[in-house]
Amino acid sequence: MCSGNFAKCLGITLIPLAIIAILCNILLFFPGGVPAGKSTDITNEAFYLGGLVGSGLLMIFPALVFLGLKNNDCCGCCGNESCGKRFAMFTSIIFAAVGLVGAGYSFIVSAVAINRGPKCFLSDGNVTYPFSEGDYLSNKTMWSECEKPNGIVTWHLTLFSMLLIVGLVQVVLCAFQVINGLFGAICGDCCGCCAES
Ligand SMILES: *[C@@H]1O[C@H](CO)[C@@H](O)[C@H](O)[C@H]1NC(C)=O
Repeated sequence: MCSGNFAKCLGITLIPLAIIAILCNILLFFPGGVPAGKSTDITNEAFYLGGLVGSGLLMIFPALVFLGLKNNDCCGCCGNESCGKRFAMFTSIIFAAVGLVGAGYSFIVSAVAINRGPKCFLSDGNVTYPFSEGDYLSNKTMWSECEKPNGIVTWHLTLFSMLLIVGLVQVVLCAFQVINGLFGAICGDCCGCCAES
């Protein structure tokens, strides 16, 4: 198994996912696609920053570390050709664990937000959460309880669903890298990076 190459693939996949998550979280601050009048008009879960921090910024570090693994100098440590590489794989486990926690956090926040539904303006002008326990998911007639902003339920559902999926994929990828990193740390990277010397 070529654990360094595998990690590089993970790194390349994680970057676009992190960017999608950051964009989704930013869009959630514009309910229905328009700037909110007051910050209290915005669904609370947007401020938990699951997409911006958990699946976004926290994921950039592991992604960069994974990307760099392939190029780590493996010939300089304790006279052991593979020990530098092994150390790199070992540190990648820690970063993968950070990514796992961040993505898991975003996943949980998104699940809670989907279950709770969006904050919106009712016909009486109050801003509140009209739904509970995901009841609106199976009954589209209820969506009209949200009078403003236009299309807020679709907006909320689309963006948090994307964050849910991104978080799940990131959790799986980082879990893979924890296992891959363990293999790499124990067995060394079997790509033979020093073979040419
Ligand atoms: C859907 O919601 C509407 C409005 O709350 C309600 O009148 C209707 O009975 C619900 N339909 C179902 C199938 O639960």
